[in-house]
Amino acid sequence: MIEASPIVDLFGRIHNYLRISLTERCNLRCTYCMPAEGIVLRDKSNFMNTQEVLGIATTFVQMGIKKIRLTGGEPLVRKDAATVIEELGKLPIELAITTNGILADQFINSFKTAGLHTINVSLDSLEKEKFNSISRRNYFDKVVSNIDLLIASGFTIKVNVVLMRGINDNEICDFIEWAAKKNIQVRFIEFMPFSGNRWDWSKGVSYNEIMEKVNARFGNSVLKMPDKKNDTAKNYRLADQGGSFAIISSVTNPFCSTCNRIRLTADGKIKNCLFSGTETDLLNAYRRGENIEQIIRSSIWDKKAIRAGMESFEDFSNTDRNSKNRSMIAIGG
Ligand code: 5AD
Ligand code: SF4
Repeated sequence: MIEASPIVDLFGRIHNYLRISLTERCNLRCTYCMPAEGIVLRDKSNFMNTQEVLGIATTFVQMGIKKIRLTGGEPLVRKDAATVIEELGKLPIELAITTNGILADQFINSFKTAGLHTINVSLDSLEKEKFNSISRRNYFDKVVSNIDLLIASGFTIKVNVVLMRGINDNEICDFIEWAAKKNIQVRFIEFMPFSGNRWDWSKGVSYNEIMEKVNARFGNSVLKMPDKKNDTAKNYRLADQGGSFAIISSVTNPFCSTCNRIRLTADGKIKNCLFSGTETDLLNAYRRGENIEQIIRSSIWDKKAIRAGMESFEDFSNTDRNSKNRSMIAIGG
């Protein structure tokens, strides 16, 4: 494969990580992700089919993308998920997935065939009733047993926890001990504003607050680990224990200066930032047989320095601005 020059923006950031949302549908209804009334499902023709996902992804890889993560909605509810995973696995990239884990047991072979090693699973509570209430469905036992199955099958598992005040912030230390026992990583994510998720920072739990709770419980045994380049998380572990924990603080401490991500939505739009209200249509250009490379380059070139231009906390927490963005279910994190 001939390699083109890398995809860069005005600030010199090289973009080599693509997140592809495979579908806007999901078998859960997490409160922080989906509006209570759901989202309007559109006709199938609006969304990338199997060949379009693979064709567009191949162009990105020719342009220097080194890692692809599949997201959703829930990526595994897509009918052709196994084919997409196995075919993308043939590209010279690191392939990863973020899933709610409910269907993961049916995909062990596809993951292995594709050479996919890292799987991020969302689990917002270790208490069955609470998890089921946050996700508005009854899959706690299935998710937990699939996490165990994935660990036993040799995958590297990271568990994502979106922290919400008064809901699951009393479980931070329990999650850290649980992850240590299972020798996996748990990642606490600050609650972020998206269209229809009734965001209000008083419901969020900040990096500082998380660390206060952690230090109060574990004291000197909390050890900082080195963070990888482009990592969105600050990584820690407990001395003499397995596993690790990390905090993703997009609200109180954005990591935009090292951002290397491009998002492609299930309906084939580029989002040059998780928080951007504007998008660039790639799918229809691809269908018309146009050269999409130039469209990709110019979309990324226009990327703003910080959170789609919302540099201050006041801007960022302005719900008028956030309502111009999509709901998380239609972005994929
Ligand atoms: N704030 C923070 N994280 C979120 N996610 C979904 N919605 C939000 C939000 N409002 C996370 C989920 C999932 C990942 C794809 O994005 O926990 O793990
Ligand atoms: Fe589905 Fe993930 Fe959104 Fe929950 S957070 S509704 S599992 S896409």
